[in-house]
Amino acid sequence: MVLVNENYLKLPGSYLFSEIARRVGAYSEANPNAKIIRMGIGDVTRPLPQAVIEAMHKAVDEMAQTNTFRGYGPEQGYSFLVEKIIEKDLKPRGLDIQKDEVFVSDGSKSDTGNIGDILGIKNKVAVTDPVYPVYVDTNAMAGRAGDYQESGKWTNIVYIPCTKDNGFVPALPTEKPDVIYLCYPNNPTGTTLKKSELKVWVDYAIANKCLILFDAAYEAYIQETDVPHSIYEIEGAKKVAIEFRSFSKTAGFTGTRCAFTIIPKELEAYTEKGEKVQLNKLWNRRHTTKFNGVSYVTQRAAEAVYSDEGQKQVKELVNYYMTNASIIRDSLLKMGFEIFGGVNAPYIWLKTPNDMTSWDFFDLLLTKVNVVGTPGVGFGPSGEGYFRLTAFGKKEDTIEAMDRLKTLFSK
Ligand code: MLT
Repeated sequence: MVLVNENYLKLPGSYLFSEIARRVGAYSEANPNAKIIRMGIGDVTRPLPQAVIEAMHKAVDEMAQTNTFRGYGPEQGYSFLVEKIIEKDLKPRGLDIQKDEVFVSDGSKSDTGNIGDILGIKNKVAVTDPVYPVYVDTNAMAGRAGDYQESGKWTNIVYIPCTKDNGFVPALPTEKPDVIYLCYPNNPTGTTLKKSELKVWVDYAIANKCLILFDAAYEAYIQETDVPHSIYEIEGAKKVAIEFRSFSKTAGFTGTRCAFTIIPKELEAYTEKGEKVQLNKLWNRRHTTKFNGVSYVTQRAAEAVYSDEGQKQVKELVNYYMTNASIIRDSLLKMGFEIFGGVNAPYIWLKTPNDMTSWDFFDLLLTKVNVVGTPGVGFGPSGEGYFRLTAFGKKEDTIEAMDRLKTLFSK
């Protein structure tokens, strides 16, 4: 008799973005003429930068010739890409990361989800609340989350509320966790931590032998100078943190798939007997066993992001989306909304009017003005009463969506 992983049976409903797609699909089917503007899932809409396209074409041509064809590559990523990441992305920020501390992968979603493979099942996990649902759901699948309660919380997860009341700065937990997920610039709130605020967490992790899983997928959107681009800008972080980076939002790779994860060799965790183990070694073992590397063509595409042309084009992409973010921010402010984020991140987090629930607000926007966003409560209990809009749409759609909202909320 085949037994299932019963942890999956504890998961509520469907994955947040699948649920939104289902509801929008049902509405669309019933209202085939509705011109729906999607500002829900954070998916990019601009084409890949020209430098990336050219590199991909060239790589495809290489794959067509016997003498330049490539089969399996190194699971951790080709040297040409890893070297560029270190030289162009990490060194300029003063970060001393070695080649064998970088693991190229197909995405930060997969890596933040899979990292639990190398962590003990008894670890207590802490998340900021609201939070990217992948962190919680993958721990629930592994059996680390306990049971799901009606409150929207799992019994064995430590929730650290981030709301307007604390300025979206997470307070240190009263119950000591072993593993802490931090995502900055934050998905979903679009808020950031200053260096001094992030240092509090690094110091806490050092003092309490915790591991920080730092998701920096939106790092390219940082505009302000006192916001850290990497957790390793904080002294001591290499001893306690794994960092996840992605080309998805930086260079339009959501469909192309390429990311990288940094696991410093000095980062150690423990066996139950208290023996120290390098997490880099364990992840290398996992990665080489379960993953055969990102395709050659895609890695050449990612490499091109670091060329002079690529860097210029990527900046233009980021500017395009940040212009949308400003349009959304300015319009919502004029309509009288209380808003957060959107300054160093492509997400705008708004307080729903009159304490409306976030799903009611979702339904209102969908049915009255055909605009789709993401209900805050989908990211965790502290997201109730909030709503997320993404700046990743086309500019004309973003303007049109704001005009439509004005018909409902003009002051
Ligand atoms: C989001 O909308 O939160 C993101 O698109 C999720 C992701 O990057 O997987």
